[in-house]
Amino acid sequence: MKVLEASIEARQRDVQPVAEPGTGHVKTGQGTPRVDGRAKVTGGARYAAEHVAPDMLFGVVVCSGVARGRIRQLHLGEALAAPGVVEILWHGNRPRMRKLGLFYKDMTSPSGTPFKPLYDDRVLYSGQPIALVVARTFEEARYASSLVRADYEEEPHETNLLENLHRAREPRRMKAGFSAPPGPTGQADSAFAAAPVQVDMHFHHGVEHHNPLEMHASTVLFEPDGHMVVYDKTQSSINSRSAISRAFGIPARKLTVKNPFVGGAFGSGLRPQYQLYLAVMAALRLEQPVRVVLTRQQMFSFGHRPETWQHVQLAAERDGTLKAIIHECIHETSRFEDYVEVVVNWSGQLYKCDNVRLRYEVVSLDQYTPLDMRAPGAAHGVHALEVAMDELSYALKMDPLALRLKNYTDVDPAGGTPYSTKELRACYEQGARRFGWERRNPQPRSLQEGGELVGWGMATGQWDALQMLARVRAVLHPDGRLVLSSAASDIGTGSYTAFSQLGAEAMGLPMENVAFQLGDSTLPFAPVEGGSSHVATIGSAIVGVCERLQRKLWSIARVMPDSPFRDSARSDEVLLLHGEMRWKRADGQAEPAPAGALPLADLLAWWGRPIEESYFQLPNKLQQRKHVCATHSAVFCEVRVDEEFGTVRVTRVVSAVAAGRIVNETTARSQVMGGVVWGISQALHEETHTDHRLGRFMNHNLSEYHVAINADVQDIDVVFVPEDDRVVSRIGAKGVGEIGIVGVAAAISNAIYHATGRRVRSTPMTPDKVM
Ligand code: MOS
Repeated sequence: MKVLEASIEARQRDVQPVAEPGTGHVKTGQGTPRVDGRAKVTGGARYAAEHVAPDMLFGVVVCSGVARGRIRQLHLGEALAAPGVVEILWHGNRPRMRKLGLFYKDMTSPSGTPFKPLYDDRVLYSGQPIALVVARTFEEARYASSLVRADYEEEPHETNLLENLHRAREPRRMKAGFSAPPGPTGQADSAFAAAPVQVDMHFHHGVEHHNPLEMHASTVLFEPDGHMVVYDKTQSSINSRSAISRAFGIPARKLTVKNPFVGGAFGSGLRPQYQLYLAVMAALRLEQPVRVVLTRQQMFSFGHRPETWQHVQLAAERDGTLKAIIHECIHETSRFEDYVEVVVNWSGQLYKCDNVRLRYEVVSLDQYTPLDMRAPGAAHGVHALEVAMDELSYALKMDPLALRLKNYTDVDPAGGTPYSTKELRACYEQGARRFGWERRNPQPRSLQEGGELVGWGMATGQWDALQMLARVRAVLHPDGRLVLSSAASDIGTGSYTAFSQLGAEAMGLPMENVAFQLGDSTLPFAPVEGGSSHVATIGSAIVGVCERLQRKLWSIARVMPDSPFRDSARSDEVLLLHGEMRWKRADGQAEPAPAGALPLADLLAWWGRPIEESYFQLPNKLQQRKHVCATHSAVFCEVRVDEEFGTVRVTRVVSAVAAGRIVNETTARSQVMGGVVWGISQALHEETHTDHRLGRFMNHNLSEYHVAINADVQDIDVVFVPEDDRVVSRIGAKGVGEIGIVGVAAAISNAIYHATGRRVRSTPMTPDKVM
């Protein structure tokens, strides 16, 4: 038992990713392998459901079988008698939790009252957790959970968006970070009617679900003094800590949430999910460590990209000048919260046009509240706009790229606000050149090869460039190791790598000397890893704290005997490069050694104790408010369509992205490639189907919910167009997490039209629609 406990304890310690020895000095913009790569492929990186304790119990969730009503009775006897079962938690015996909805609001909640797991007998959606079976093993808990029976007092439910469009209404309030569509400019409807060339199209996008590899899970452990440590699958340890601290009234100092490794989330971990509350409930009640892992099926029971209905009308002069843009969207939300993702806003920003009308409404259905999913809103909204633009280009007999360039804008057309930076024109040029767009014959069905129709399509992408607030702490040790820390996350995006790299570069240290600690709610404040903002936010704080360290080092260098900097008057006369402090020349570059260089190792050894600093980064709102801050992309793609089977292969994609300065070329490219793969998936495969009689998602598994696999992905070419945006962040970076998916489905849709002459206006573009 001693041996087991020792090995368990060793496993409990989280791996701290650091670059491999010999990585050396890496400049911003260069690529390096992921510093957490080795830990991830060797099993050293432990995810939320991989933490263990000798006396751990396992919880398995029981979900509601009806979409709306009340639980009249739960039949628990058979399950309680099953082998290994310790307890079954339900609304009648759960620990005390707060009543007011306010206590359940998190950093990313929409307006309304959040769902409270196991709170009472109300059923608000099919799949809602109604009980947690706790047993000595996962298998016992899972078997016993199948024995729980529930009697419901069913009420009629509505889950069909298209049958409820008449109930559309404005959302009550926008969520933080989202703004309502701007009011109309000009006279869009009369301009549309009067224009010589018009297109008028409806679009429908089904429900989509996040399917990260790692299932949502929470493991609750106790330290000997009773301190609760929860490993949670989340995009913010601080957000999860605050959620359970508030719901159960546990003081935050008695509670730590950790997420050092997260196996993908894509928005599904922005809000604390119900397994977290359930695991804590069981641990509180049984006073034992508890782990709750959702099944893949249950991963479909807490939020999704909403089903969306859209109407786009575009009109132009015969020379291609846009005269009217009208874009209306209605999507679903739950009965208890107003989820918003605006969908239509980008349509007012992408092209110059004097007459624009945007409308955005929601319909409450008996579903769980939808949830941000990679590029929420833009993934569907820009798809509709960009397919309509393609249609307009054919109505005008104009090249689709030429139409976009004809209506190009350097400012926000609505109010004339300038972009902080916008290299979209360069994206179009470089993307088109790389793809060979000028060789395209515009005629649909003009190209056939080996029995397949070949089509080329393109689309524009835009996503917001956000910066939030964060604190980073730095400790520079006498041996030259730099440890940076913040309660940030790495959800598979490369945060560890980019953050270590930025710190190393700022301090002139080899990358393997720098560790970035994240994924722990006791570390300095960081926001959720979301909205493609983590590098712009945490990266700026890293540079800020390193400037402070450098100033401190300079002040030490002034007093150190025999230092060449004893007479230095200002800290900005020096800089750190290749492990040395050097004089800075007038052009900002380092004076080549040995004109006056002090090895950092000597300086730190002389000082002999760690140097600690911290820095709080506030977003540069003053400047950001005066600009539209956004990333852009131009996506070009080639499809091959087998008309007899209706199958589509995406054989080539070029995505040219302008996203500010790129920190790590390798991980940034992976981000965009992942976005493109998901765009292919959205275009051709992904849709969650509801049986409206039951109000339930039916294909809630990876055999029936199709996602793109390796065989669906061929040539993806990512081009980063140089950009440097000091309005979005002091490091010039914007963010690459989401822009990669935007526009991809539209480019594919447009390529299918070019190949077949058939316009598909809904996703996924399955064989039945393409044939
Ligand atoms: Mo992203 S959908 O902001 O995690």
